This record gives sequence, C-alpha cells and structure tokens, in this order.
Amino acid sequence: MMQKYEKLEKIGEGTYGTVFKGKNRETGEIVALKRVRLDDDDEGVPSSALREICLLKELEHRNIVRLYDVLHSEKKLTLVFEHCDQDLKKYFDSLNGEIDPDVVKSFMFQLLRGLEFCHSHNVLHRDLKPQNLLINKNGELKLADFGLARAFGIPVRCFSAEVVTLWYRPPDVLFGAKLYTTSIDCWSAGCIFAELANAGRPLFPGSDVDDQLKRIFKLLGTPTEDTWPGVSQLPDFKIFPFYQPTTNFMQVVPKLNLKGRDLLQKLLVCNPSQRMSARDAMNHQYFNDLPSSLRNNCN
Ligand SMILES: Nc1ncnc2c1ncn2[C@@H]1O[C@H](COP(=O)(O)OP(=O)(O)OP(=O)(O)O)[C@@H](O)[C@H]1O
Ligand SMILES: [Mg+2]
Repeated sequence: MMQKYEKLEKIGEGTYGTVFKGKNRETGEIVALKRVRLDDDDEGVPSSALREICLLKELEHRNIVRLYDVLHSEKKLTLVFEHCDQDLKKYFDSLNGEIDPDVVKSFMFQLLRGLEFCHSHNVLHRDLKPQNLLINKNGELKLADFGLARAFGIPVRCFSAEVVTLWYRPPDVLFGAKLYTTSIDCWSAGCIFAELANAGRPLFPGSDVDDQLKRIFKLLGTPTEDTWPGVSQLPDFKIFPFYQPTTNFMQVVPKLNLKGRDLLQKLLVCNPSQRMSARDAMNHQYFNDLPSSLRNNCN
C-alpha cells in the first residue's frame, strides 16, 4: 500500500508518532506521512479510531490541513496529509522577537476561520498549539491534527516520552472537566493569539497542572461560584489563593491594540460557558480593517 508514496526525510515527532515528508509516485506531489504509533500495538488499530479518522477526510477547508489518505496495514496506520512549509513554533523561532501586527491579525483570523469550520461540523481539536498550526510561504495558515484527540485520546506523554504541553489547556479541563465542548479550542486560540502578539513568547508556560492554573488565575482572577457556577464541583477542583483579575492587559500584550486586547479578554474567560465562540471572534471589531482579499475569496 505504501508503494503509492515514497518516504523521504523525517520532519518531526509528536504525540502519536513520527512525521515524514513523502512523495506521491504517480503525481510527484509532496505530502506529509504521519506514522501513528498506538499504545497497544498488539491490538492493532481500534475500529473506533479508524471510523473517526475516515470521517476527517470529509473535512475540507483552506484553513485545515487536508487528510488525503488513510493507509492501514500490518496493524500500522499512516495518515497522508497535505504538506506545509513549516509550523508556527519554528516560525516564531525565526522571528527575533518582532512580528508585523498585520501578520498577527491575518494568522489569528485564519486560525478562527479554520476553527469555526470544524466546530460547525461538530469536530473539536482539543490540542491546539503552535506545533499544530502550519504555515506556508504565501501567508496561509492551516490547522493540523484536527479530530485526532477524539480518535486516539489525549495521552499524557508523547511517544518520544516528552510530556504533553499544558500551556494551551483551559482551566475547566485542568480541573478535570470531561464534557469537552468547542470552548476548549477557543481558550487555546486565545493563548495562541497572545503568543502571536508577543512574537512567540508563550502566555502561560506552566510546569505542571497546579502551576498552570496559578498562572492563569494570577492574570484573570481566581474563579468563584459567582463568576463560574459549578466550578467547585469539577472532579479535580482544588482551592487556590484568591487573586484579583489584572485590569491592565496592556502589560500582557503591549504590541496589541485596544480592539485586539478586547478580543483576547473575551477568549480568555475561565468560565467556559462565557467564553467567546470562534464565529463571534471572527466578527469582532478587531478584524474590521482586515484586507478584503483575506476575508473573502469564498469560504
Ligand atoms: N502536514 C504537515 N506538513 C508539514 N509539516 C508537518 C505536517 N504535519 C506535521 N508536521 C511537522 O511535524 C511535526 C510533528 O508533527 P506531529 O503532529 O506528529 O507532532 P506535534 O504537532 O508536535 O504534536 P501532536 O502530535 O500533538 O500534534 C510538527 O510539529 C510539524 O513541524
Ligand atoms: Mg501535530
């Protein structure tokens, strides 16, 4: 089955396995081949995972990395994706601490548009982070690995034994909430927005769950039953020191304008039911002066 693609050099390693560059032998097209390692290799690929993955082939949008093919053989699974030039993390590393505000706006809009599309098709990401945002030289941004967390579950360790990052997880998930909704991705989008505006400096680089929550509450204020009804009933809830919310977001994202800061504050809301949706975020005033070439050319 792999005869269709020639395996080229390794591009990277992530939570589920290894990514290689590949070439379609018939068309010459360059692709990304993701070889998925499963926890229990003897069991083969769970049929539930396969079903989920195959559904993702239908998810076609210009801000979503296309899944072209699912190759399943000898208990191994290879996902064939559209190839992109680099990921956002590597892009940050190349910046030297400066980013054009128009690039921030363009990337954020494309991130939200990809999110909105998936959410409207009832697909969640659950693990958005700069490594999963791929960009092309022409300024396009695409979301990678949509739906994989649902198919395979989010492990706590990468297969390379690195710990999965908590930096983009919302407080509800950190408190053990199991009812995942679209709001989880909107929190991650907020964290990435701040990181974009700060040219790659992560907003909440926590070292463990406690440290992660503390960093969040120091900025946004510790939630209470008043601001977030039901918070104390969450499975892993614990009491934190009471912090007042920071009133001055200027210091958090000094390069972001007033409208941008307003949007950021609406995404970074601890109570998931009050968090702004991707669709509402796309319609926020911050994007009023977006070049029409970016906004339009059909969805
Ligand atoms: N379609 C693609 N085109 C180009 N590069 C890719 C593509 N998919 C993945 N990569 C690169 O390979 C790296 C590893 O990908 P992979 O998705 O396995 O890990 P990750 O994104 O770091 O974490 P996760 O497994 O949680 O998504 C990515 O960070 C990215 O740099
Ligand atoms: Mg990835």
